[in-house]
Amino acid sequence: MLDFIMTTIIPIASGKGGVGKTVFAANLGVSLARHGKTVILIDLDLGGSNLHTCLGVRNRHPGIGYVIYNKGRSLESLVVPTDIPQLHFIPGDTLFPGTANLPFFKKKKILSEIGKLVADYILIDLGGGSTFNTIDFFLVSNTGLIVTNPQTTAVLNAYAFIKSSIFRLLYRSFPPRSEERNFIKAHMANRLEGSDLTLTDILEQLKHLSPEAEEVIRENLSGFHPRVVMNMGKSQNDLALGAKLRHIVRKNLEIEIEYIGFVGYDDAVDRSIVERTPLCAGHPESNFASSIDLIREKLMESLNFGEQRLFDDDEDIKDLMGDADEFSL
Ligand SMILES: Nc1ncnc2c1ncn2[C@@H]1O[C@H](COP(=O)(O)OP(=O)(O)O)[C@@H](O)[C@H]1O
Ligand SMILES: [Mg+2]
Repeated sequence: MLDFIMTTIIPIASGKGGVGKTVFAANLGVSLARHGKTVILIDLDLGGSNLHTCLGVRNRHPGIGYVIYNKGRSLESLVVPTDIPQLHFIPGDTLFPGTANLPFFKKKKILSEIGKLVADYILIDLGGGSTFNTIDFFLVSNTGLIVTNPQTTAVLNAYAFIKSSIFRLLYRSFPPRSEERNFIKAHMANRLEGSDLTLTDILEQLKHLSPEAEEVIRENLSGFHPRVVMNMGKSQNDLALGAKLRHIVRKNLEIEIEYIGFVGYDDAVDRSIVERTPLCAGHPESNFASSIDLIREKLMESLNFGEQRLFDDDEDIKDLMGDADEFSL
């Protein structure tokens, strides 16, 4: 009999670039692999790919662009090994214009190809910011990871990312051209013009719009628990920031996030990139590696909540947002 492998997909995002998301993804992958799990790390930071650098893998392999541009390659055929047993890697595509929105069918193709990969864990390193590309990939899991650092702008951007994800989740909770979706769409358009309904107001109005809407929203929102990692922390205050973020999200956005870990600032991280060996592999006894191991343990313990039942976005994204790729909510 074939063993059934349960694959856990973990998208890794951040509101802002430069917070250490890629370093974190690489080291979490190393930690899982050292713990006996098979891992595939996917570089989906379209336009800003650098996961290979953090892994110490040379950038000479075909990457995700071969799937995006239909060059007849399956995602599986792009998997390359790393120096660490059980840790595999799918390179990104540095030629992709980072700001371009992938049409939804391309995202669906990538996601269905990801679904065919066999591994215990698939970690997806996403680009920074709240573009639809990033958010749609983030929503493949109910419990994706968001990395931030203690800087005010980074924390605010993490909050904005969570908010944008919730709006996208609401939008995709209803079928194309439904009354509910049109309502959310209209709100998002108004929002750009400065209307200031809160999320609570919007949920209230949606519930009045249709009795079923309330049930759908409750189901999809109640299962949505992004997890936050505070990276490059330097003080107790920094540690407390994660809890503050959780509190504000609970108050304003009606969901619970999990503050899953705190990783301290460590100069050795930069050195590990130069030395082409992730810190968790080169110095598994370091404080940095211990914090990553702790996060890995928590991730492995926690339940897999499954997926939300979301509809595709088959409408033209441009139609929805005009030329604004990044929307502030
Ligand atoms: N815990 C840390 N301590 C010190 N420097 C870090 C830490 N995490 C990341 N860095 C550094 O921050 C920079 C950005 O990291 P990177 O992972 O590329 O960010 P992102 O993927 O979010 O854009 C790199 O130079 C990296 O070495
Ligand atoms: Mg990165």
